[in-house]
Amino acid sequence: MSKNPTPLERVREFEREQALKLSADERPLFHLTPLVGWMNDPNGFCYYKGQYHLFYQYHPFSRQWGPMHWGHAVSGDLLHWTYMPCALAPDTAADAGGCFSGSAVETPDGRLMLVYTGVQPAGTFRRETQAQCIAIGDGKDFEKSLLNPVIRHCHLPEGYSEFDFRDPKVWREANGMYRMAVGNRHEERSGTVLLMESKDGLEWNYITEIDACRKEYGRMWECPDFFPLDGTQVLLVSPQEMHAREEFHAGFGTVCILGDWNEKDCRFERKHIQPVDHGLNFYAPQTVLAPDGRRIMIGWMDNWETCKEAPRRHPWYAQMSAPRELRVEKGRLMQRPVREIETLWQDTVLHDSVTVKEETTLPGVQGRLMDMTVNLLPSTGSACRRFTLHVAKDASHYVEIRCDLARGELVFDRSHGGSHRDIAHTRHVKAEVRDGKLTLRLLLDKESVELFINDGERVVTSLIPTPLAAEEITFAADAPLLLSAEAHHLKA
Ligand code: FRU
Repeated sequence: MSKNPTPLERVREFEREQALKLSADERPLFHLTPLVGWMNDPNGFCYYKGQYHLFYQYHPFSRQWGPMHWGHAVSGDLLHWTYMPCALAPDTAADAGGCFSGSAVETPDGRLMLVYTGVQPAGTFRRETQAQCIAIGDGKDFEKSLLNPVIRHCHLPEGYSEFDFRDPKVWREANGMYRMAVGNRHEERSGTVLLMESKDGLEWNYITEIDACRKEYGRMWECPDFFPLDGTQVLLVSPQEMHAREEFHAGFGTVCILGDWNEKDCRFERKHIQPVDHGLNFYAPQTVLAPDGRRIMIGWMDNWETCKEAPRRHPWYAQMSAPRELRVEKGRLMQRPVREIETLWQDTVLHDSVTVKEETTLPGVQGRLMDMTVNLLPSTGSACRRFTLHVAKDASHYVEIRCDLARGELVFDRSHGGSHRDIAHTRHVKAEVRDGKLTLRLLLDKESVELFINDGERVVTSLIPTPLAAEEITFAADAPLLLSAEAHHLKA
């Protein structure tokens, strides 16, 4: 290291030291964790020069949120990640208060441009302010623009905030122009997403307000994403502090708005709104367009409420969700684990047409590394109302997934999953039997469960603090119930 190392060089040195001490065994199998320290939002999710790049909000020096850096990892299949050196540290006047969330886009000359929120620390009379910055590089080292911040509050019409102005998501249009969806908080309309445009990434013009929360869906709208999918335009946002309403739970939510984008008038018409994820731990997702045309999403498997009380038992804290393929079907956003997961399948166990009643295990179906699909097949007129699945079970723990087949409701309940905290442990979500079938697909990766209901119509993502030795899986119903189960163990 040089005699007068820069803040970034110091972080990179610290990472090199830590990397030698940390064992991969402690980490989840395929969910990304920070190299060391703390992680929140996925950032700069892109496909660049033959690899996926995923950056993340990062505080290397502790397992708590702190001055924000950008951590970095690359992968060929979205499941096996290789750490890269820290990409950004808060080391200039434009971002001394932190390098907050943002995105990445390839420039016409083949370099990678990171677009992020620079936080300028509070002065004696002012609160800290937020503005948008860029850094350009080769996929490993990035140089911050001397013109940062390239977008400031003064570029926006009246009424928008300089204190809540963050999380730019940038892409390039077919005509070569850069576009950006960025979160802001308007004096009257509260959380909003703004659309900006630029020829060169340096000079930006405000185009329009894409949508606003109108005080109905939370407060500030964080981490927007905006893209076409299956003939519809999709807007993703993560509102802070939502009231419970419709299918949305209270707190830090994830919202998907489907609508029509009219390019001529630059207007977005809202058609349908739904939660992205119904679980206890999911926030701030970001998507990438894969080279084969798939739209793939990863979220932070946590949120600002749940992370406060969570155990910090590893040298790092937090993990990303599984990568998911998105699609729109019949006016709904649907999700499925990326198909690459099949490359991890081993020791597949099939149980076809099993009738269950009293709590039972199925031979070969146990463990904490698994991709399992259970089809419940209640016959017409069946007396069965309730099906109960326990995972991560031993004599004193279990995580329960309870289906009320008559009401079409599922309860995810980790109350007995090992937590000692007085926080929410349950979620209720719609899960309807359709054409005689209800499908539950579960991804288990040590300390997490991701549940995809009816081919990803609804998803429930949650961390479980249950000791890893609890690996039994049981099936029970209140009256005989026909089901099939296909369990793929995952290759460690
Ligand atoms: C979302 C968020 C972003 C911000 C970042 C800071 O989780 O609050 O709005 O850029 O985290 O770490």
